[in-house]
Amino acid sequence: MSATTQRDFTWGVSTSSYQIEGAVNEDGRGPSIWDLHCRQRGRIRNDDTGDVACDHYHRYAEDVAIMREMGVQAYRFSVAWPRVLPRGRGAINPAGLDFYDRLIDALLAAKIEPWLCLFHWDLPVGLDELGGWTNRDSAGWFADYATLIARRYGDRVKRFATFNEPSVFAIFGYLFGWNAPGIADRDAFLRTCHHINLAHGAGVDVLRALVPGASLGAVHNRQPTFPRRPTEGDREAAARLDALWNLIFPDPQHLGHYPAILARDMEPFMRAGDLAKICRPVDWFGMNHYSPIYAREDAKSQLGFAWADAPDDEPKTGIGWNIRPEAFCNELIAAHTSYGLPVYVLENGFGARDTIAADGAVHDQDRIDYLTAYIGAMDDANRAGADVRGYFVWSLLDNFEWGSGYSDRFGLVYVDYPTQRRIPKDSSRWYADLIKARHLTPALSA
Ligand code: FCB
Repeated sequence: MSATTQRDFTWGVSTSSYQIEGAVNEDGRGPSIWDLHCRQRGRIRNDDTGDVACDHYHRYAEDVAIMREMGVQAYRFSVAWPRVLPRGRGAINPAGLDFYDRLIDALLAAKIEPWLCLFHWDLPVGLDELGGWTNRDSAGWFADYATLIARRYGDRVKRFATFNEPSVFAIFGYLFGWNAPGIADRDAFLRTCHHINLAHGAGVDVLRALVPGASLGAVHNRQPTFPRRPTEGDREAAARLDALWNLIFPDPQHLGHYPAILARDMEPFMRAGDLAKICRPVDWFGMNHYSPIYAREDAKSQLGFAWADAPDDEPKTGIGWNIRPEAFCNELIAAHTSYGLPVYVLENGFGARDTIAADGAVHDQDRIDYLTAYIGAMDDANRAGADVRGYFVWSLLDNFEWGSGYSDRFGLVYVDYPTQRRIPKDSSRWYADLIKARHLTPALSA
């Protein structure tokens, strides 16, 4: 890393469509599986929904101005598939496409590089009705959607991610049934994983063919998995969770095979030639990381493990996720060593129940401490050769945090939901200062 300057490093922030846009019934957007999921009582804390969220659909210009003020160089957002293709395939919604034109143009005018993610969990209901990701045709639907996006925005957007955290939405949505579409079925889950991998490969091919100068990857959640107790059974459970959480997508995508521990499970869903379609060359490994996760054995579980809570004696974030920056360092090194790609951290952040103080500000020193420690750990990883080229905080704004609704806040900017007022937290000023300092100073010493 000695020869590089910080100018080569990208500092950014990330969001996703369903978590911030709102306007779910406006200008021809179709329903997503999350709209339906949120309508089932008791699914989401306080029965919150993404109907309004941060109203970003109407306030995007203000949000871009906030990012410009913060000095971020890049912004990762996702396109809501049902906003541009209301049923997921077939009829196009011009007003939905126009929205992302406006957003992209505003970003470019502010000198912020757009990083477009094609899928951050809001699958069109029209496709779910056909089986969603459990239907092998989904790879073709995704390729058609990617074609539309590449043709429309590829003149201005060069950074594309196919999927955000496929393992998280597949495990929570199709194995445990906690997230949309609420399925808890071993076969549906494994089938889904394989089809997402096929869709990723097809998406990469489309983007590569249609976008000159494209820089492509996928975004994977990578956390170390630990046995909850030091028993043989829990150790095996943690190894299963590791394969399902960390490897089932990146291994076939970058190495051309499923992890050995899952090979037999995947076989029934595979056809000759599939792995070659999945393993397409990409330009970087997108990594999201928050904290270690835990598993315990459970004879009744469908795939050999159960989810376990973190031990009590670990330091925790404001929403109970444990804080272990050295785990982040290790995972960055491991990701680079395993796949040989440059790494971009496309999510890392601190969840809490932030409140507005008497002076009208939001003092989130605990978030600043967390980010300082984690960015330090990333620097350590780079010194050890991990080739990390960018870091994006999750998130620009407080937003709809899936099952926790609006009570868990991850933003650098506080959102006062009743008024939609944006209040930059102390951490947003801290991040602005850090970017300014590191963007202009020489690189980390070797
Ligand atoms: C990740 C998701 C993102 C957000 C953060 C806190 O798993 O990709 O949408 O919810 O966690």
